[in-house]
Amino acid sequence: MSSPRADIWERYAAKYQPRRAFNAAGASTWLNWTQYPDHGPDEAVLGDVRGKRVVELGSGAGANLAHLATRGAICTGIDIAPSRAKTARQAWGHLGDIEFVTADAVDYLTTTSTTFDVVYSIFGAVWFTDPEILFPLVRKRMADGGVFAFSHPPAAPQEDRPDQVVRQWHLPVSRWADLLSAAGFGSVAAEIIDAPVFGKPSTVLVRASST
Ligand SMILES: C[S@@+](CC[C@H](N)C(=O)[O-])C[C@H]1O[C@@H](n2cnc3c(N)ncnc32)[C@H](O)[C@@H]1O
Repeated sequence: MSSPRADIWERYAAKYQPRRAFNAAGASTWLNWTQYPDHGPDEAVLGDVRGKRVVELGSGAGANLAHLATRGAICTGIDIAPSRAKTARQAWGHLGDIEFVTADAVDYLTTTSTTFDVVYSIFGAVWFTDPEILFPLVRKRMADGGVFAFSHPPAAPQEDRPDQVVRQWHLPVSRWADLLSAAGFGSVAAEIIDAPVFGKPSTVLVRASST
């Protein structure tokens, strides 16, 4: 079913440009936490994903999730924009243990009965969803010892407008940690990754364990 938010994200999806076929290292799949190519940490943030059940919240065209499928993860990508699942399936469906679902992250986590070892989001649904609603839902669907991680740009107060249909949650790093602890997560680590070029925006990367 369509919603004003889904419609906005569908219009965003229409402007999608496929990622490069190869990164600087010559790899055809890779996971990138920042807004800059060939920059920042990789999938190691999530630990060994082989055989683990992984969900990405706001998976877009699926390129980051596809990389985890090549590493042996059992992958589910959730995206609110309906065309995203089709685009992602066309590009990555051949990889096997990977599915793409059209849903709002909150709706999906509320209704699924699946337990995940890894939940992550890269400039995705975590950035655009009230963490006081989302985090307890994520925690509830996670296996003990699981990893929850997400990245997005740093605080930009002029963008944090509660009246927007698509609101961005820009919080100080310490606030993310407090919210995760309140939702039952442990071992929270939050860092700012500097941009590769001076004067460009950095990236917030937050990682927590489910226990
Ligand atoms: C900026 S894009 C990033 C996509 C992808 N993670 C990447 O790094 O290429 C944000 C994505 O999150 C999706 N999204 C936004 N809000 C969402 C929500 N509440 N539930 C599920 N997906 C959402 C959008 O449709 C969009 O595909």
